[in-house]
Amino acid sequence: MPDRLKDKVAIVTGAGSGIGKATAELFAREGASIVAADWNGQTGSQTAQGIHAAGGRALFTATDVSNAAAVRAMIELTMREFGRLDVLVNNAAVQILGKLADTSEHDWDRIHSVNLKGVFLCTKYAIPAMIASGGGSIVNMASILGFVGDPDLAAYCAAKGGVIALTKATALGYGPAGIRVNCICPGDVDTPMVREYFDKDPHPDRLRQEIYGKYALRRIATPREIAEAALYLASDASAFVTATSLVVDGGLTSKCY
Ligand SMILES: NC(=O)c1ccc[n+]([C@@H]2O[C@H](COP(=O)([O-])OP(=O)(O)OC[C@H]3O[C@@H](n4cnc5c(N)ncnc54)[C@H](O)[C@@H]3O)[C@@H](O)[C@H]2O)c1
Repeated sequence: MPDRLKDKVAIVTGAGSGIGKATAELFAREGASIVAADWNGQTGSQTAQGIHAAGGRALFTATDVSNAAAVRAMIELTMREFGRLDVLVNNAAVQILGKLADTSEHDWDRIHSVNLKGVFLCTKYAIPAMIASGGGSIVNMASILGFVGDPDLAAYCAAKGGVIALTKATALGYGPAGIRVNCICPGDVDTPMVREYFDKDPHPDRLRQEIYGKYALRRIATPREIAEAALYLASDASAFVTATSLVVDGGLTSKCY
């Protein structure tokens, strides 16, 4: 009987697609009530409806994680509808390609406002609700690009490095209050974000095979495989794990030659 999140209430941001969708669905199957947050009303509400149809509990909120008022409203809705908050998965992010000198100030600000400030805002407003609920677990979706570089994703790398550092600072600040904070650093995951990256190349299939070949496991991850890591960090199975970065990259970043 799947019940690793029985009686827990979890917010998943960016729940309309990819890793966020897989995480919301898996958490619901494990017994959690889900607040599926996304700025895309169509895909976000589809995730919540799908969970309902499968017999789970979920509601959708149209939330832009970079907007403080919207984030406050998301937390208020969670407390009003479900009465507690146990888990926050800060997953929403955007990706904009660009070497550093080609990155506009606008794109830099956009990436940072969603990928880093969004994590700050959701965490800031979730913490009082989690403390009122007796503690909780925050899972930040960082990336291997928070600790290794990609020349074509300069702003994205900088923001993800910020997420890893913010994870540690928050974990130290709120461990005494019973809140654990960890992040996941995935390698490539087969989601729309990565498909878009492949499809921008003149030879997408060739690029895909080239990238698969760099992995010890000779493939990239499925969204479900990252959701399983999020489930571990969200659940009591990881009760003594905090401030850590869990690398889920099929061996990619261990390779030197
Ligand atoms: N796909 C990968 O290879 C990969 C690798 C490492 C890390 N990640 C990270 O995993 C997370 C999920 O990535 P994905 O590949 O599933 O992406 P995705 O593009 O498939 O989904 C991202 C979701 O976030 C939502 N979103 C974007 N901006 C938002 C905002 N301001 N407010 C609310 N919702 C917003 C989108 O509407 C979308 O539903 C991201 O943090 C990403 O950086 C992905």
